[in-house]
Amino acid sequence: MWFGLVVTFEYTQAFFILIYYWIKALGRVLFVHDVEKNVENETILVTGAGSGLGRGVAKRLAALGATVVLWDVNEKGNEDTKRQILDSWSSAKVLKSFLGSMLAANRGHIVTIASGAGIFGISKLTDYCSSKYAAVGLHDALTAELKQQHKYGIQTTVICPTFINTGMFHGVSGTATSVSLLDENYVCDSIVEAIRKNKHFVMLPPSTTLFYILKGLLPNECTGRFLRFFGLSNAMDTFVGRK
Ligand SMILES: *[C@@H]1O[C@H](CO)[C@@H](O)[C@H](O)[C@H]1NC(C)=O
Repeated sequence: MWFGLVVTFEYTQAFFILIYYWIKALGRVLFVHDVEKNVENETILVTGAGSGLGRGVAKRLAALGATVVLWDVNEKGNEDTKRQILDSWSSAKVLKSFLGSMLAANRGHIVTIASGAGIFGISKLTDYCSSKYAAVGLHDALTAELKQQHKYGIQTTVICPTFINTGMFHGVSGTATSVSLLDENYVCDSIVEAIRKNKHFVMLPPSTTLFYILKGLLPNECTGRFLRFFGLSNAMDTFVGRK
């Protein structure tokens, strides 16, 4: 009887904590327009800075006064390696070499550029999806570990855009609105904004968040039909890529 009461109390408490965080998150989305943090004089490492998003984000951060360290292991003509699963291990290695000093200082921000392909499995993107799911997993596990160690000074952000017009996805069918290519500048601006506002999870365009919610709610076959309906299943049929 006594035990029953204690358990009930703990469940009730957990329930109210849940409601509290949910309302807080909703309030943040609806009413709070977060102040953007200053990145002036901060040292920021940008990997993949040789092209596409890496280059765009590096330029923007430099314009804001940050000291930007540019990294790109992929020389010209080596683009294909980017699509390989090995890519996900390289980001883990980079992280490992910098995390120690961040932990010691309890300060920093780790931004993972993943993709919508890290949330949804898409036909003919098996290798790409594998590496992007790995990136999202890395972000999730890292976030959990930082919280568990009470390292609240280290922020984490994951960005999941759909197809972008950087050239990497040239030829992807743009018939359905859901797969119309995103403008590279829009994505770069959104990434910098997400960093400065300490956003945790960003899907681009924001409307794709709806698919994510539905994925969790709908039966698997239903989700498959949704993806087909919005043209995502066959988006790669006309793929050409970066030449
Ligand atoms: C950045 O560094 C410059 C030069 O040392 C200094 O004048 C400026 O106040 C610094 N800005 C911030 C925000 O710390």
